[in-house]
Amino acid sequence: MQKQTLLTGQTLTFHGDPFKEPWEDCVRTDSAGAVLIQGTKIIAVGDAATLKSAHPEARVISYGDDLICPGFVDAHVHYPQTAMIASWGKRLIDWLNTYTFPEEARFSDPSYASAIAARYLDLTAAHGTTTAASFATIHPMSVDALFSEAAKRGQAVVTGKTCMDRNAPDDLRDTVQSAYDDSKLLLEKWHGKGRAQYAITPRFSPTSTPEQLSALGALWAEHPDCLMQTHLSEQTDEIEWVHSLFPEARDYLDTYEAHGLLGARGLYGHSIHLTPREVDRLAEVQGRVIHCPTSNAFIGSGALNLPELAARGIPLGLATDTGGGSSFSMLRTMAAAYEAAQHHGHPLHAAQLLWLATAGSANALHLGAEIGTLAMGHYADIAVLDLRSTQAIAQRANRSGSVWEDVFATLMLGDDRAVRATWIGGACVKQ
Ligand code: GUN
Ligand code: ZN
Repeated sequence: MQKQTLLTGQTLTFHGDPFKEPWEDCVRTDSAGAVLIQGTKIIAVGDAATLKSAHPEARVISYGDDLICPGFVDAHVHYPQTAMIASWGKRLIDWLNTYTFPEEARFSDPSYASAIAARYLDLTAAHGTTTAASFATIHPMSVDALFSEAAKRGQAVVTGKTCMDRNAPDDLRDTVQSAYDDSKLLLEKWHGKGRAQYAITPRFSPTSTPEQLSALGALWAEHPDCLMQTHLSEQTDEIEWVHSLFPEARDYLDTYEAHGLLGARGLYGHSIHLTPREVDRLAEVQGRVIHCPTSNAFIGSGALNLPELAARGIPLGLATDTGGGSSFSMLRTMAAAYEAAQHHGHPLHAAQLLWLATAGSANALHLGAEIGTLAMGHYADIAVLDLRSTQAIAQRANRSGSVWEDVFATLMLGDDRAVRATWIGGACVKQ
């Protein structure tokens, strides 16, 4: 029998969607809980004393009062933007041209791509993130780099070659045919291999011709089990640009819909300034809206009305949007999601924020049967949070009357110092 490891501490488990039912019915904490790991998977979750006596041979790691929760799932990032995060003073289109495209051009060098992929996965594991859905660059090797580094770590990642055949520098443009061919080769090589998941990746409508969008829509129809990721309705200037590039489109979403790029396996990053028709269509097809609140604040895009979309039944994920986002931390991202919802008069509960960062994002990526909650048969992808990680948080926790007050303080004030341990596929990668 494979060795077993028992993590004891305060466990947090989800039993429902706290945007659909009262949060109290959807989440449980157990102050004397435990998670039993064998190989890459969780084989039991329950009471620590019971699991200890039932599995006396298991190695026990005690996390005391720390919160043992599912690893964070970051549903929209750009790993190639790791080294240029926190670049000053631009809005979306200028930010892309000034900082992003020159950095992404460096990924023509496979050794640079591998180095940044490893750096990205190390940094995010230190922040408790165990899965990310990332854009790569137009270079096929940038996809190989992230999947290879993730495979070394036994980690589930979603990525895909970013396709752009217009409105980008010469050295960052592909063509209709090469975008189709390269994406097809990559998805055949990687999709479903180990924990790798391929996402067909048109960057956004302004950088693809209608012909390229159609070719990628056709590829998705040929491989409907793949994900598709893109950007939607992030900034008002961008939306005006989309209207001028696609005069026949009813709205921004229609530029995807008309080319076979709307579906339940579609991940639509940002989606801030949606029209009623776009909201209706996303709800109808169950297209995923990925909320990127630090990025939306940092690039000045706006505050998504997430509670309104949740009320419409649109599946939601949460994301840092590294490097448009201003942090690698999903804790910091939950704080920004709280602040964005406050703009619309909806204080999200800590349980809803944590759900978004774990089970919600996992469901958005169609990986909810494998990750996103502590449950038997799920991968042992786990973040352990110290709820008193800094003086500022500890003094607030000293005043708190409940575990949820403690948790909320860490969500609002915490960073990588709050992540005491990260486990990926049953292996401890931060202790
Ligand atoms: N829209 C198109 N590309 C990007 C990107 O790299 N970051 C963000 N935030 N928005 C985009
Ligand atoms: Zn993005």
